[in-house]
Amino acid sequence: MMDPSNNHHAVTLTVNGQTRTESLPPNLLLSEYLRDHLRLTGTHVGCDTSQCGACTVLVDGAAVKSCTVLVVQLPGTTIETVEGLGRPDQLHPVQEAFREAHALQCGFCTPGVLMTAVALLNGDPHPTDAEIRRGLDGIICRCTGYENIVAAVTRAGNGMAAAQEVG
Ligand code: FES
Ligand code: FES
Repeated sequence: MMDPSNNHHAVTLTVNGQTRTESLPPNLLLSEYLRDHLRLTGTHVGCDTSQCGACTVLVDGAAVKSCTVLVVQLPGTTIETVEGLGRPDQLHPVQEAFREAHALQCGFCTPGVLMTAVALLNGDPHPTDAEIRRGLDGIICRCTGYENIVAAVTRAGNGMAAAQEVG
C-alpha cells in the first residue's frame, strides 16, 4: 500500500526468520535494504550491474541477485541472507564444506556463492560438476578459482544429504 504523503510503500517481508512491515521508497533495491537499512552487510555489492553475483540472496528459496530487484516487488516473500545460514559455532554444511575445501581466499564473492550453492543443493544435493558450474554461472570469483568451489559444493551436498538422513 502506498503512503501518499511521501510516496513510500508499506512492504511486509520475512528476513532470516523475522517478519517486519516497513514503509519504503519505491526505488529501494533489495541489496540496499539489506545492507543499509537492516545492516546485514554480509550481502556484498561488487558491481551493481548484475554481473558479479556477490549480492545473491534467497527469495522464497530461489537465488536472486539482490541488486537487480526492488523491495517493493517482494511483498510477502521470505528472504534469506548469509547471516541466516549458520553461526560460528554451528556452521551450515555449505559453510563447513567451503572451509574444509579451501574454497575462498578474500571472501568477497563467498556470500553470494554460498547462497547460490544452497539454492542449488536444496533442489538436488548431488549435482554433477557440470550442473554445479552451470548453477554458479553468473557468480564471479576473482581469486580462488573454481576448482575448489565446485569441490566444496559437492562436499556440501553430501553433508546436507547426510544431515537430512539423520534429521
Ligand atoms: S552487486 Fe549484484 S550482481 Fe554484482
Ligand atoms: S574468494 Fe576472492 S573473489 Fe572469490
